[in-house]
Amino acid sequence: MIDTLTIRRPDDWHVHLRDGTMLEAVAPYTARQFARAIIMPNLSPPVTSAAAAAAYRKRIMAALPTDSNFTPLMTYYLTDDADADDIAKGHADGIFTAAKLYPANATTNSAHGVTDVAKIMPVLERMQEIGMPLLVHGEVTDGDIDIFDREAVFIDRVLDGLVRALPDLKIVFEHITTDQAVQFVASTGPNIGATITPHHLHINRNAMLVGGIRPHAYCLPVAKREQHRLALRKAATSGSPKYFLGTDSAPHEIHAKESACGCAGIFNAPYALESYAAVFDEEGALDRLEGFASLYGPDFYGLPYNDERITLARSVSPVPEHLDGSGTKLVPFHAGSRLQWSIVPS
Ligand code: NCD
Ligand code: ZN
Repeated sequence: MIDTLTIRRPDDWHVHLRDGTMLEAVAPYTARQFARAIIMPNLSPPVTSAAAAAAYRKRIMAALPTDSNFTPLMTYYLTDDADADDIAKGHADGIFTAAKLYPANATTNSAHGVTDVAKIMPVLERMQEIGMPLLVHGEVTDGDIDIFDREAVFIDRVLDGLVRALPDLKIVFEHITTDQAVQFVASTGPNIGATITPHHLHINRNAMLVGGIRPHAYCLPVAKREQHRLALRKAATSGSPKYFLGTDSAPHEIHAKESACGCAGIFNAPYALESYAAVFDEEGALDRLEGFASLYGPDFYGLPYNDERITLARSVSPVPEHLDGSGTKLVPFHAGSRLQWSIVPS
């Protein structure tokens, strides 16, 4: 039995760090575990210019302890009016690592998102040309499509056509939740990858609905049936470089979660790596954790591996019921339970 595991320090290829006092509360959790992270741009207002991204990057760094060794990788929030020249310049200047496509109204702060991918084709063509990755929230928003089907329908209605039209565009299909998404990604070329969250590896939709409605298990895309969770676990632990770590840690204040119209988002940053380690251990795939967490993401983005190492030990991490955050309580993923792995302090 493996009792300790030393891997290259991992990166988080999808995280919401928020802004203001919430940023100050949550950013240190991400920076403690991860060397780099792709920072989601769905602030209010969204990050739609290089100046806004550079200023946000500074606020992130200011929110961290001075001895943090962490690099935020910024993203551009695509709107119908996105300008290809601005994006290409921001990418060339090292401000934008990638651009994010939110279908309009798909999730938190996505009202300014793209109403029809056809409207941003010139931007996507330019991104293909310059090798800038497109990060996709893959859900349709049509009122007649059941929420549990929105990811699968997105593949058929949008993503499949996009991949055919722009075969060399680098695309990350983010926070995948279905067997259909796993199969789609597996069937495409090396320029199409996917991130997988810890929560979608641990919970299915029962966690949200059995025995009472549990707002802290609600996120978007919503957790699906067990067969999908199993497909995700298989993909994440398969050793395929197409699937890599992206927590989608998305904190909301406790009153915004525990409400008649609770916000979508699971705050998993505090114990993210311990959570992934539990899954890889349960699947007998601890030897594959480093690829998923620390190698395949940099490979996809064309970035160097981190030199630092991090050691995990088989020792219990008790997860508190809540953590303090921005003058309010934040409920972490796995609240009140015990994870079987811990990070050994360096
Ligand atoms: C995210 C948020 O709160 O910003 N929520 C979530 O459930 N994942 C938005 C998103 O990534 O969909
Ligand atoms: Zn997200």
